[in-house]
Amino acid sequence: MRARFVILAAIFLISCQHDETPAAPPAFDITHDMDDLMIHVIDPAAKAMWSHVGWLLSEDGVEAIEPASETEWRQAEYDAAILAEMGNLLLLPGRIRILRDEDDKPLQSDNGDWTKYAVAMTTRAFEVKQATIARDTRGMFTTGAEVYKTCVVCHDKYIRKDDPKRLM
Ligand code: HEC
Repeated sequence: MRARFVILAAIFLISCQHDETPAAPPAFDITHDMDDLMIHVIDPAAKAMWSHVGWLLSEDGVEAIEPASETEWRQAEYDAAILAEMGNLLLLPGRIRILRDEDDKPLQSDNGDWTKYAVAMTTRAFEVKQATIARDTRGMFTTGAEVYKTCVVCHDKYIRKDDPKRLM
């Protein structure tokens, strides 16, 4: 009886220890540095999303671009969905940037804006998605412009002004 109690107690202890072991962090792969992520992933996705509406100016006049078939409408919706998910990629551990002073201390002026801009990119892209579902080309254009603003504010704040990377 005593032996069984000891064994049970041992099992109880082992299982308790097991419960307290912190779960291994998810194996995110952030091999893409920020430049690669932007140039190879986010920028092409944004361009695909924006390509579904607009105006083409030529010698023959102005031609409106909009989805012309069910398949194209669906593609426009998927492209907005893809960009919406990409805001999350900017929030993976190791990707969030914080403005720091020379002593590597976080600057008050950072204000957690990286996270806000990444979330805003996702929110705005979801609005583009809603506009595609509503078959609202004007809405796709205006919400698409709002997505662009989230790219610009983030670049404004997190790419140094003298960095040649600062294109927009
Ligand atoms: C949360 C911040 C953030 C958001 C949102 C963001 N970017 Fe960026 N982007 C950056 C940073 C930071 C860099 C510079 C990378 C570096 O310094 O390593 C960059 C660089 C780029 C570059 C590369 C410029 C170059 O020549 O190297 C492109 C292109 C780009 N972003 C496109 C976009 C587009 C398009 C969007 C919106 C759909 C967007 N980015 C949204 C932070 C952001």
